[in-house]
Amino acid sequence: MSIILGCGYIGRLLGARLAAGGVGVTGVVRSAESAAQLPAVGVQALQLDLLQDPPNALETADADLFHLAPPPGEGREDPLTGRLIDAFAARGQPRRLVYIGTTGVYGDCGGEWVDETRAPRPMADRALRRWDAEERLRAWSRDTGAELVILRVAGIYACDRLPLARIRSGQPVVSAAEAPWSNRIHADDLVEICIAAMDAAPAGALYNVCDGHPTTMTDYFLGIAAAAGLVPPPQIPLADAPGRVSAGMLSYLRESRRLSNRKLLSELGVRLRYPTLAAGLAGCFPAT
Ligand SMILES: NC(=O)c1ccc[n+]([C@@H]2O[C@H](COP(=O)([O-])OP(=O)(O)OC[C@H]3O[C@@H](n4cnc5c(N)ncnc54)[C@H](OP(=O)(O)O)[C@@H]3O)[C@@H](O)[C@H]2O)c1
Repeated sequence: MSIILGCGYIGRLLGARLAAGGVGVTGVVRSAESAAQLPAVGVQALQLDLLQDPPNALETADADLFHLAPPPGEGREDPLTGRLIDAFAARGQPRRLVYIGTTGVYGDCGGEWVDETRAPRPMADRALRRWDAEERLRAWSRDTGAELVILRVAGIYACDRLPLARIRSGQPVVSAAEAPWSNRIHADDLVEICIAAMDAAPAGALYNVCDGHPTTMTDYFLGIAAAAGLVPPPQIPLADAPGRVSAGMLSYLRESRRLSNRKLLSELGVRLRYPTLAAGLAGCFPAT
């Protein structure tokens, strides 16, 4: 029995993959719109606001639990994960929890290569919330003996999840020479990694989840524009970025790191279908 908490874009792909293999899957979402999408992929929907509603209908005892529900959009803590841990005490401890976190917990690394031994230094509030979630889950696992695997996931992309509208709108990017490094994982590969983490990772394991081939953020946008046959976005100096790009993008521009996926590949035996952005984009825009 599998439960996917936060059964949105990735959760639906994961749920469909598990259901096709004969696994019973319950997907927890907040809205009726999201709940309505789950039966079509073979997932039983449970509509529940994990931040507010009593978790009476959650049957977590001995479950394989994938935690994909993001923290709330403000603050430096993740009360959602706190409530979840309380719910486990009432509803039963899962057998294993795989947490889909983010690589933002490393903070700015000045473009250095980063593996799982690197001490996290979360800077942005969004990263501090993710760090809080990790810390709460580690304490829960220590206290209860339940198995925990943490995935620190890089930027997720897929054919229907590319910044085409941004590129079409002509919004600028920072000049290639000044752009920070960025890291990605294709959604299909992430799904396989989630399953491997549940089935095969040593308890307590932590993995960077990325394709291991970082590019600068500007090369990411230029690569997508070229593959999609769009006009490349204009480049501006980093100093001009405040006021010209969104606050969210500005916060990403302050962090640069190149993430190693060596542990993921060697310890979990994962073979990526899309080991580079170019391979992923070739699957989206096949040459005609
Ligand atoms: N975007 C990236 O590049 C990236 C990178 C690393 C990690 N991640 C993380 O990976 C995870 C999966 O990503 P995704 O693209 O699948 O996200 P998504 O499509 O936004 O799905 C998140 C799901 O969580 C549900 N949810 C949110 N708050 C909830 C609450 N209080 N109670 C119950 N359900 C709640 C949402 O339900 P409703 O739809 O009903 O609101 C939604 O179905 C997320 O945690 C995301 O932050 C993303």
